[in-house]
Amino acid sequence: MAKKILVTGGTGYIGSHTVVELQSKGYEVVIVDDLSNSGIEVLDSITKITGIKPGFEKFNLADAEKTNDFFNKNQDIKAIIHFAASKAVGESVDIPLHYYRNNLVSVMNILDAQIKYNIPNLVFSSSCTVYGQPDVLPVTENTPRQDAESPYGNTKRVNEDIMSDTIKVNPQLNGIALRYFNPIGAHKSALIGELPLGVPQNLVPFITQSAARVRGELKVFGDDYDTPDGSAIRDYINVVDLAKAHVIAIDRLLRGKNKKNYEIFNLGTGNGYSVLQIVKGFEKATGVELDYKIVGRRAGDIEKIWADTTFANEELGWKAEIGLEETLLTAWNWEKNIREIK
Ligand code: UD1
Repeated sequence: MAKKILVTGGTGYIGSHTVVELQSKGYEVVIVDDLSNSGIEVLDSITKITGIKPGFEKFNLADAEKTNDFFNKNQDIKAIIHFAASKAVGESVDIPLHYYRNNLVSVMNILDAQIKYNIPNLVFSSSCTVYGQPDVLPVTENTPRQDAESPYGNTKRVNEDIMSDTIKVNPQLNGIALRYFNPIGAHKSALIGELPLGVPQNLVPFITQSAARVRGELKVFGDDYDTPDGSAIRDYINVVDLAKAHVIAIDRLLRGKNKKNYEIFNLGTGNGYSVLQIVKGFEKATGVELDYKIVGRRAGDIEKIWADTTFANEELGWKAEIGLEETLLTAWNWEKNIREIK
């Protein structure tokens, strides 16, 4: 019998790609999502790709009663991947309580249910934002975390602590925190991808919308950083590669192959690219010329970060495989598909 995995936030960007990879490896998936930042039609897109419709329930996991009722009815769940969260950095500064409530209470409700219904395994979607601007690059999992720049970033850090503290005193539980670097791109079918509400804050969705003429020119935030071309550097990871790492993390927990009850892995490519390299890479991959100008730095941005992926490579046997240009092309194909551009 297929093992049942709960994917919270499974209609969202990384969640939907992970559902596809889980289903293709034979897992049964049930999604919980409140659709606050995604659409129900994503379920049809997933079904088109895999031929299997995932289970779905619409509610917010910060609601303790609904979360308890759900787990009470689904005690056969073997593991949880928890993506569901509010994720807009700027918005989190304006409405911190919403972010803390939504992102922290949901994890607490999930852990409560895991203990109550004996569901041992949790994979949590964390972020390289917990490292701030590190002194030494690339960052390993042992690089010290720093104070968060925003309530959003703080929720990732505190969520990690809630998870590890709870696991410490509940040794029947096992958790893996995955610290993502910058996920970009879309499924090669162009049926699922990133669909930000309003004006995209992240680089690649802004680029694709600008290229599609949905937005004006791209603003490159800063060319006076201490980097080879002066623009800021990130580690951009293909979302399908990222999704595959989640399946490996689930396999690891279900097979009891984890070395500790609480483990942390960086998920990046190990390569840093500057904003201007992304602009050039997009133009080269797609043949579309971008309209852009250099403006001042964006408040709260760090200068440079990229991952040391040795631990994930060696322990998970996972490595990002899809190259930058191919990834940027998938992002463009997705944008073209939703805008009906030929
Ligand atoms: C941001 C969040 C991070 C979160 C991640 C999720 C901040 C400070 N950090 O990371 O916490 O986990 O998104 O994906 O917001 N850029 C431009 N022009 C644009 C947009 C971005 O030049 O219109 C630049 C940024 O200055 C940055 C790079 O592109 O140097 C990447 O930006 P973005 O995609 O927003 O990701 P992060 O800021 O790295």
